[in-house]
Amino acid sequence: SNVSGCTTLPKLAKKAHYKVGFSQEVTDSPWRVTETSSIKDEATKRGDQVIVTDAQNSDSKQVSDIQSLIAQHPDVLIIAPLTEKGEVSAIKQAKAACIPVILVDRDADHSIIQPGKDYVTFIGSDFVQQGKRAADWLIQATHGKAKIIELEGTTGSTPANLRKKGFNDEIASNSGMQIIASQDANFERATALKTMQTLLQSHPDVTAVYAHNDEMAMGAIQALKAAGKHPGKDVLVCSIDGENDALKAIMSGEEGTSVQSNPRFGPISFDTIDKYASGQSIEPWIVIKDNQYTKENATQAFNQGLGF
Ligand code: AHR
Repeated sequence: SNVSGCTTLPKLAKKAHYKVGFSQEVTDSPWRVTETSSIKDEATKRGDQVIVTDAQNSDSKQVSDIQSLIAQHPDVLIIAPLTEKGEVSAIKQAKAACIPVILVDRDADHSIIQPGKDYVTFIGSDFVQQGKRAADWLIQATHGKAKIIELEGTTGSTPANLRKKGFNDEIASNSGMQIIASQDANFERATALKTMQTLLQSHPDVTAVYAHNDEMAMGAIQALKAAGKHPGKDVLVCSIDGENDALKAIMSGEEGTSVQSNPRFGPISFDTIDKYASGQSIEPWIVIKDNQYTKENATQAFNQGLGF
């Protein structure tokens, strides 16, 4: 490291084996468990060392996790940030300590810090596209007429912001597609169950649910059933991720579609580390290509182990 600190994007010296820090924002779902395993497995495969922290859904814990990783002098940091603004100070501290940072699955606020300048790159899905794809499915399935409850992901996180935008932009030109309620359920199944139970009391006329992830869709399905509704029949459900429980819900007819958001970031993250160390230019956004699951392909995807 450089005693005077880095003011430009830190470089990465080429090595046979790296010491990598991975700051995970939470470990509360199959999606997060799969992401962390993917990174650990890839490190093991390459003989790299990886130190993993879990911020337990807290911006302040994630900042201190990153600070403690910096203090252990890794060659490079991989960070899955909770929110767009919450970890910015720590990402700047890593830069100042001359440790290159790669953001995975969620981005930071580009009005404060930028890829290629403050961190190497953002590796992640096209969340706007995911929201659009869910909307397209719902417009088709309902012939453009629906009263929608939207369950939003964590306020201030990239997927919550952009999945909302993609969906809203797509339904905007269909006057029959009406969002009757939108509420934050923090990407959590249990929170979505409670939120949906409350929303169903004031909105019994709901005909569709758009959840920003599968875990919340599973909570919504549970609440709908408890209220005597028939998910997949009187209330259509769509969401994002492609976890096994959603694939099963599609197979049983309770869910209509899940747009994939692939959590297997290990191989692409370590390939990017190699590229960066060998001096190749890295795009500011490395886009993950995602599938979409419906009753046409859910069984096959499940059997192929594409879920998690
Ligand atoms: O950032 C990606 C999102 O985070 C996943 O869709 C969600 O399930 C997770 O919590």
